[in-house]
Amino acid sequence: MPLNAVRHVRKMRGGAQAHLLEADDGHWYVVKFRNNPQHRRVLVNEVLSAAFLEYLKIAVPETALIQMTPAFLGANPEIYLQIGTRRIEIEPGWHFGSRYPGDPDRFAVYDFLPDTLLAQVVNQEDFRAILVFDKWAANADGRQCVFYRALVREAAAGSSAVRPRPGFVARMIDHGYTFNGPHWDFPESPLQGLYARRQVYESVRSLDDFQPWLDQVIHFPEEVIDRAWKRLPAEWTDGEDAALERMLEQLWERRQRLPELITACREARTNPFPNWR
Ligand SMILES: Nc1ncnc2c1ncn2[C@@H]1O[C@H](COP(=O)(O)OP(=O)(O)OP(=O)(O)O)[C@@H](O)[C@H]1O
Ligand SMILES: [Mg+2]
Repeated sequence: MPLNAVRHVRKMRGGAQAHLLEADDGHWYVVKFRNNPQHRRVLVNEVLSAAFLEYLKIAVPETALIQMTPAFLGANPEIYLQIGTRRIEIEPGWHFGSRYPGDPDRFAVYDFLPDTLLAQVVNQEDFRAILVFDKWAANADGRQCVFYRALVREAAAGSSAVRPRPGFVARMIDHGYTFNGPHWDFPESPLQGLYARRQVYESVRSLDDFQPWLDQVIHFPEEVIDRAWKRLPAEWTDGEDAALERMLEQLWERRQRLPELITACREARTNPFPNWR
């Protein structure tokens, strides 16, 4: 849903120089700007990836197109980009927002968890799911996610009662460097897309542990790709139609090679799947 930015909260860390903004739907979004210092294409990559991940039902934040008007930017001079010592103004128009999972003044979100707490993440399977996606999309960045505490509903042993239990939830973020970022090609490396804490892959014993996502990508519906393309604001893609079509064709062809791409992770200097023999 297209939204308007209504309040600035703060600048975030990271190469895209995103800012946390409140939008007119009452939610907060980490917003990457069209003229961000990485490349305009990282916004295209974010929107396409969000659509594909939604289809695959992988745990990601909601996303939205966020409009910033000249009036909003004029009233919020702290929103700008910095390249070296140069101040660059944000261009008014459409930008990409990734929804913050609560009120940022009250709700703690973590970029990293120590290993003992990582073991308490309730959706461990999403790390295997997202590796399937990252291999397919040739994500040139290491896997990144955010964590937050949540009460997880769980059936109590031996009864039908559902008991809430505190745990952590992981949400996969930062898809600016899928499709190799600004390059829109698919270089291959066994290390690509892996999460730095390898304990999330301890349950992997064979390719079957990447199901059902592996089959879902191999049989990916073409209309999901077409629909994602149509979601892109024209001002992000002018002059890019041929390059975008070429990139999406390569992505389409690449589906069949996924088993091989995942298996190749084991050829990294240290095998990320110690229990896959
Ligand atoms: N949906 C979200 N909810 C909470 N925090 C988020 C969300 N999206 C991004 N962040 C925070 O904003 C930071 C920057 O986001 P992101 O990693 O997508 O941008 P980036 O500038 O591309 O970073 P990098 O330099 O790692 O490539 C993240 O490290 C994370 O802390
Ligand atoms: Mg990042």
